Amino acid sequence: MPVFVDEKTSLFHLQAKNMSYIFRIMNGYPVHGYWGKKLNHQRGLVHLFRPYAKDFLDRLPQEYPQYGSGDHRNPAYQIRLEEDGSRISELVYKNHRIVKGKPKLAGLPAVYTETDKEAETLEVVLTDPYSGLEAILSYTVFKVFDCLARSVRFTNKGKQTIRLLRALSASVDFPDNRFDVLYLSGAWSREAHIRRRPIGPGITAIESRRGASGHQLNPFMALLSPNADEDQGEVYGFSFVYSGNFLIAAEVDQFFTTRVSVGINPFDFSWKLAPGESFQTPETVMVYSSRGIGEMSRTFHRLYRTRLARGVYRDKERPILVNNWEATYFNFNEEKLVKIAKAAAELGIELFVLDDGWFGKRDDATTSLGDWQEDRRKLPRGLAGLAKRVNDLGLKFGLWVEPEMVSPESELYKKHPDWCLHVKGRRRTLARNQLILDLSRQDVREYIIETFSGIFSRVPVSFVKWDMNRNMTEIGSEKWPADRQMEIAHRYILGLYEILERLTSAFPHILFENCSSGGGRFDPGMLYYMPQTWTSDNTDAVERLKIQYGTSLVYPISAIGSHVSAVPNHQVGRVTPLATRGHVAMSGNFGYELDLTKLTEKEKKLVKEQVARYKQIRRLVQQGDFYRLLSPFEGNETAWMFVSEDKKEAVVFYFRVLSEPHPPRKRLLLKGLDPDRVYRLGEKAEYFAGDQLMGAGIPLRLPREDFTSLLFRLSAAT
Ligand code: DGJ
Repeated sequence: MPVFVDEKTSLFHLQAKNMSYIFRIMNGYPVHGYWGKKLNHQRGLVHLFRPYAKDFLDRLPQEYPQYGSGDHRNPAYQIRLEEDGSRISELVYKNHRIVKGKPKLAGLPAVYTETDKEAETLEVVLTDPYSGLEAILSYTVFKVFDCLARSVRFTNKGKQTIRLLRALSASVDFPDNRFDVLYLSGAWSREAHIRRRPIGPGITAIESRRGASGHQLNPFMALLSPNADEDQGEVYGFSFVYSGNFLIAAEVDQFFTTRVSVGINPFDFSWKLAPGESFQTPETVMVYSSRGIGEMSRTFHRLYRTRLARGVYRDKERPILVNNWEATYFNFNEEKLVKIAKAAAELGIELFVLDDGWFGKRDDATTSLGDWQEDRRKLPRGLAGLAKRVNDLGLKFGLWVEPEMVSPESELYKKHPDWCLHVKGRRRTLARNQLILDLSRQDVREYIIETFSGIFSRVPVSFVKWDMNRNMTEIGSEKWPADRQMEIAHRYILGLYEILERLTSAFPHILFENCSSGGGRFDPGMLYYMPQTWTSDNTDAVERLKIQYGTSLVYPISAIGSHVSAVPNHQVGRVTPLATRGHVAMSGNFGYELDLTKLTEKEKKLVKEQVARYKQIRRLVQQGDFYRLLSPFEGNETAWMFVSEDKKEAVVFYFRVLSEPHPPRKRLLLKGLDPDRVYRLGEKAEYFAGDQLMGAGIPLRLPREDFTSLLFRLSAAT
């Protein structure tokens, strides 16, 4: 079994397929010993731990470090006792238990097991006798995934109120500092750019203070051995299963050790724990790879695709869609939409998604969020009438919604001006002309659930694009007392999760797509409720190479929405060939976002081919193993490929941004194939051995033009 306990030495050894994680109780403290390649032998592990002086905690590698007793590094948690104002605590070991499988985290998204045989969970109970604070450190170790899922549950078992000032989900002390740090940074329409640099003394931190995970920094960080690349070297990936303010910090101290801390951002956070109350932290997933960044990504992909994403669409091929946003923006009517849907049906597209602008008086982004009644000027037969016409064309119907928001210019706001996040006596800052509904309030949550349950029951909706287009300001709630105002940002996220849980359970046949002005909330928390995300509002093929490549570090391809749009591109003005736009979009969850009625006959023919081609390869793209071959962050070329689990099928995409004079003869080295098999390349009778494709590569014949792309299919002939 994956959790071994040596009672004699109070040592815990969590063992996954190729990974071990070891800690031990010393003088009551859970002390970190090792995280890395699997150690098979149980003996001798105690030598991983050095004796330490009780008053010198600054040198002690810990599992969940406290504040105030000599460890001056980042603590994992911090409290204040409301009676005397003191901030000291000392959590010591009380007992532990091992649970088969993985218990659910109340009210929070988390990875799960389908049978108890898949994992074991070790729960270590710590207590601070003086305050009565109890913390249960939870570690789930999986049989087939090289990862741990960690979280903490606090309970106030004492008699006085305790305030949590910091309640992180995981802390890991590495014995040295020989690491690079890797993370994803960006902005609206420039999401998920890869950053890598060596860490040094001090703190390297990424965080969000926006109330959402954000476009700017994704809740993911990895420590890499300096020699690590896609295929080799040690990689420790941390991914936080949460959609709000987060902190991931790597602190190198005076002794050249490195502490990684992951959790809810302590900035503007505190949580009051009255006697008897509990607080559950979100979960951190920690992946280990001894075979480079690629292997880390494939572990995240498999885990998140099959044991984080849920619902009937988890394992299903996703429909090819057309979305009217870039085709019409707010300027449409039923006839225009039906024309687009008709053109889509003729091209083999399977789903029509109606985007923003269908409700209230929403002719632009200034009004009507909150007034979720059809605009009869645009849709005389309402949503149901439009959906019926779309369905009659053989397409499914999808709908855009932005339930978390309210426009000041709306009936809802007139009726309930107190329903948005705000602070009395302060201005209400608008962003995209809108305010955020206060999801920490039960009445607001009920309104949202009732409104959208009504729409989803009345209209034959099979797809919902759930958008969220601004970050939090003036974070406060009229419903909660003064001493709980610093809980509101987290209570909002808990409220959002409750709404999503209830709506996705009530409408299991609906495929939900997460969106926040593109990738502003592309995080594992949202993936638990919605198996796919609109990756970026930037639909330019060249920009998308970077965005999709970066996103693939953590997130499965089945989660990455990617559409072909018109040229000149609406975000950057670039003109790229339709074939290349198609190949970039086919490398994810495929769709179109342009006015299909305006295509020329030649373009129609190509789109038809693209749709047909994607139908052939989509299972492989959405569920295969993903290998990155050439990075857009390192040069003019990008390439990636998808391989089936049995290694019998593969599809390879190659992109070159700018044409080059006198280029060298190019060969693209493949990965992940079976070296002993012979593969047929494309439809032609060209055969190559797996070892040849990986060692010597496929010769590339490229036209003399910018923005070129190639697609190859491989199938095993032996
Ligand atoms: C932001 C989204 O990312 C876009 O795709 C589109 O749905 C707009 N919102 C609509 O307002």
